[in-house]
Amino acid sequence: MIVVITGASSGIGKALAEQLAPRGAELVLAARRLDKLEELNHKLGGQHLCIPCDVSSTEECKSLIEKSVEHFGRIDTLVCNAGYGMVRTVGETSPEEFRRIFATNVFGTTDCAHFALPIMAKQELRDGWRGQVMIVSSAAGRRGLPYFGAYSSTKAAQLSIAEALRVECRPLGIAVTSVHPVGTETDFFDVAQQQGGKTMPAKHKAEIRQSARRVAREMIRGIASPRAEVWPLRAARWALSLATLIPGPVDRVMEKFRKELDEQNRKS
Ligand SMILES: NC(=O)c1ccc[n+]([C@@H]2O[C@H](COP(=O)([O-])OP(=O)(O)OC[C@H]3O[C@@H](n4cnc5c(N)ncnc54)[C@H](OP(=O)(O)O)[C@@H]3O)[C@@H](O)[C@H]2O)c1
Repeated sequence: MIVVITGASSGIGKALAEQLAPRGAELVLAARRLDKLEELNHKLGGQHLCIPCDVSSTEECKSLIEKSVEHFGRIDTLVCNAGYGMVRTVGETSPEEFRRIFATNVFGTTDCAHFALPIMAKQELRDGWRGQVMIVSSAAGRRGLPYFGAYSSTKAAQLSIAEALRVECRPLGIAVTSVHPVGTETDFFDVAQQQGGKTMPAKHKAEIRQSARRVAREMIRGIASPRAEVWPLRAARWALSLATLIPGPVDRVMEKFRKELDEQNRKS
């Protein structure tokens, strides 16, 4: 299989590459930090293709897809994983910051899919599908989090896009899968604090954080056997679906989280 992974230089994308490579997948590793991609490629045997790419640029997304097809002849799965968070209230997020996070998390997804879909539609069927677009959204795509409003909104947009695209692509033989991890142990929270200029309290006992390896393992199940959604923590799927029915009580739970962040940032 040929798998293109955006955001392969770290975290979930890197863990996915590390687990797909030993299974014989040929990979296109994309991110802005080429040195990190080359280091990963070297660790995986050196036969994969590294492409420096900033997904917030339409031209770079186009070139990523073109170079991938030029090199490998087809794309079986496009994993739109590149993204970042920002710890900041909605009111404090500037118009530029909003546009910038949408440019990476949402338009980076739609641009890569836009250029890959016509190519996938012409590919021969393989295991019943011509191709697959896998979109790494988040559990936060189902319920917005205080201090993560801009980020949550990009993840909700990715979920909506995946839902519509999945039905549109079915007759083309292209599978579309969205992925919804809960908090995962990667550089994500460090980057989110840097981007937002705010700090978060240290992880408390009640909080569940998964390993990137676990998330990647579940994503591979969704690649081997395409499905609508991948929820690496299954309980989160049911809890968050229920949460959409009772927004008032859930607001009160979320208020505790907001107060902790208010308190933390007053101190710092
Ligand atoms: N960690 C979590 O708790 C969590 C939970 C739910 C969903 N997610 C989602 O999982 C995805 C991966 O995040 P992660 O947790 O693995 O965080 P991470 O370790 O910080 O990795 C983020 C990846 O995205 C890449 N990236 C960021 N901006 C980019 C851009 N403009 N162009 C190209 N690549 C870019 C980074 O590479 P470069 O810096 O080299 O470009 C890096 O490889 C994100 O979409 C995130 O929203 C994470």
